[in-house]
Amino acid sequence: MIRRIALHAAKFRVARIALFSTIAFGATIASAQDELTIRQYQFEPLEGRYTLVMKEVPRPVAGDHDVLVRVRATSLNRRDLNMLHNDYGDDASYAGGIPLSDGAGEVIAVGDAVTRFAVGDRVAGIFFEQWIDGPPSEAALLSDRGGNAGGMLSEVIATHEDSLVAIPDHLSYEEAATLPCAAVTAWVGLFKRGRIEPGQYVLLEGTGGVSIFGLLFADALGAKPIITSSRDEKLQRAVEMGAVGTANYRANPDWQLAVKEATGGHGVDQVLDVGGRDTLAKALEILAYGGHIALIGGLSGYGSEIPTDAIMWINATTSGVYVGSREDFEAMNAFISEHRVRPLIDRVFPFEEAPDAYEFMENGDFMGKIVIRL
Ligand SMILES: NC(=O)c1ccc[n+]([C@@H]2O[C@H](COP(=O)([O-])OP(=O)(O)OC[C@H]3O[C@@H](n4cnc5c(N)ncnc54)[C@H](OP(=O)(O)O)[C@@H]3O)[C@@H](O)[C@H]2O)c1
Repeated sequence: MIRRIALHAAKFRVARIALFSTIAFGATIASAQDELTIRQYQFEPLEGRYTLVMKEVPRPVAGDHDVLVRVRATSLNRRDLNMLHNDYGDDASYAGGIPLSDGAGEVIAVGDAVTRFAVGDRVAGIFFEQWIDGPPSEAALLSDRGGNAGGMLSEVIATHEDSLVAIPDHLSYEEAATLPCAAVTAWVGLFKRGRIEPGQYVLLEGTGGVSIFGLLFADALGAKPIITSSRDEKLQRAVEMGAVGTANYRANPDWQLAVKEATGGHGVDQVLDVGGRDTLAKALEILAYGGHIALIGGLSGYGSEIPTDAIMWINATTSGVYVGSREDFEAMNAFISEHRVRPLIDRVFPFEEAPDAYEFMENGDFMGKIVIRL
């Protein structure tokens, strides 16, 4: 019910904008560069799913507590593809909403009451507009950008000053745009919930956004990342990035045994489980005493036959992780700055080709993150 109300509010915000023109998936609007209008993509229903439609709309105006951000880059997460397929595990309608939770840009105007940011600051949006710190509330979890709240695939957005963070100085806008969802999720799973320590073995499943951030963070800390993939060339690249062990989960159905062997029989101390149904029980099978599994994703579907007594016998812990708060994002940024962590970007698409970025993700031939430059 609350989800519905929040959704209606989000749609109302978009509906207030008088649309000047509409153009179909993949095409472009030649000019929206004057002072009065901007270009943005919106979800449009199409045969039971959604398509992306670029629209030219009035430039947003900053309210008293709002910041106007000229978005310079956005990035994709699996969620964004699921939303396009109308397969995000809820009954919400995204029609008319602006896609993508992740983006970074430059502050170009601030409302009269704004104190946290000034014109010229480099910022990124937080995933949940209203989850600032502490445990989440239902309202906070209903403020997900690019879903219930407006997203970042827009040349300019107006957003509350509390819903932004400063980005690390050494990162470009493209790099910073990859942080809000996948990086914060990996950070919370390893550091906040898992209390990872140097020297621990960390299992990462596949070479997508969350897992590659897990690899980068574990390596920067001095932990020992072990990663799986369906492609040997991606595993080779992961070794160059710091993985101490690898397994091809497609070629080897018992990949978990190869992972355990890579730990010298110790087992893995930390797991970022993004695979779900096909991976969770296998990860538990090779979890070290006192190990931690962060329950994050369902790339193979959700729901697993889990021997819960096994969690008890080895004094393991499991945590559900749904991204994190602004406080988590800021703690992660401090670590990223201290260790000069640089996200892995596979490919950058221009704004006009945003639908191609989604198709590229769908094809699966990427490592790390896919970015759209505005
Ligand atoms: N709970 C949260 O807060 C949260 C946040 C972010 C993401 N997620 C979820 O976590 C999952 C990963 O998200 P993402 O954005 O990192 O995805 P992504 O970037 O799209 O990663 C996809 C990669 O995962 C690997 N993969 C696919 N199926 C797999 C399987 N059955 N077992 C192991 N690996 C598999 C593949 O890597 P190879 O090509 O190397 O085989 C694929 O390229 C998704 O289910 C997503 O919805 C949850």
